[in-house]
Amino acid sequence: MAKILAIESSCDETAVAIIDNGNLLCNVISTQIEVHAKYGGVMPEIASRLHCENIGVVIKEALEKSNTKLEDIDAFAVTRGPGLIGALHVGLQAAKTLAMLYKKPLIPVHHLAGHIYANEYVDEFNFPLLAVVVSGGNTEFVIMKDHLNFEVVASTRDDAIGECYDKVARVLGLPYPGGIPIDRLAKEGKHTYQLPTPLKGEDTLDLSFSGLKTNIINLVHHLEQKGEKVNVPDMCKSFQDVAVGLVIDRTIKVVKKYNVKEVILAGGVSANSYLRSEIVDKLKPLNVKINIPPLWCTTDNAAMIAKVAEKLYERKMFASLDLGVDPNWEISDYDKY
Ligand code: KG4
Repeated sequence: MAKILAIESSCDETAVAIIDNGNLLCNVISTQIEVHAKYGGVMPEIASRLHCENIGVVIKEALEKSNTKLEDIDAFAVTRGPGLIGALHVGLQAAKTLAMLYKKPLIPVHHLAGHIYANEYVDEFNFPLLAVVVSGGNTEFVIMKDHLNFEVVASTRDDAIGECYDKVARVLGLPYPGGIPIDRLAKEGKHTYQLPTPLKGEDTLDLSFSGLKTNIINLVHHLEQKGEKVNVPDMCKSFQDVAVGLVIDRTIKVVKKYNVKEVILAGGVSANSYLRSEIVDKLKPLNVKINIPPLWCTTDNAAMIAKVAEKLYERKMFASLDLGVDPNWEISDYDKY
């Protein structure tokens, strides 16, 4: 095994972690959320600039916290995609520079593989498993028959679920990132608004969130035009019931179809309290193990990238220094670069 420094900069968190033979020595995260909150969403250009400002500071802090020198690092790992192109570039350039200077391997890591492997900090995986990946940029159901074996069996046809949470929050006047206030307010509300169930009546494992989002935006504008006030907690509850309901419905169908032994939640939306309780509750009759990540590893971090990097290091899956980022990298192509 090895000592690996991992970098994550795919969206609005600049993060660095150092792992030593399975031991997480540090996990430093510098979040830009407050800056982007002013705009109601992540501004890609600002994200890249802030990564440039922060990356050196975060690397330095990680080395200090773990009492490590760069000379002692055996490999440099980095998120290569998916994510915002400019943001990804900053992390990759930093990792390439360090790999070149210290003549150590460069390990490209898939961001969603990272979200999935965050769960390995909780427990070992039982294969075949279903990873329900629900984040701000992706909504994918991934079957794993073994380590580093990813098959996407269902995904959204349009928006990611987190993006939908953020847009619904914005139209309701709630702060970014919208998942957090919606989760909180839904607990105070009732399901009083009639909203369409996405892809109702279709025989499919696909998901869809853009119709639901547009329906809510139109409904809110319509009510405002009539001078009626939207009951925000009720709207949050009505929306969340439908959005989480769709994820649960697809989870049950995929578990049955692929006969999985374990279901794991991954990605920023896996912090959602209703999703976390519903998945346990509704999957009880199916007798599968459910792995719910601790909140610290639901948001973007580099500890999850380090976890995947260890597996890739064992297999000597290194990249050359002319590697580029891939903002649309598919998880099933995690080994193609
Ligand atoms: O995984 P993540 O940090 O970013 C991506 O890699 O895409 O996920 C961020 C997303 C945001 O859309 C945010 O609104 C959502 O996760 N989120 C939540 C909750 N906390 C964060 N969504 C629902 N409920 C929450 N408690």
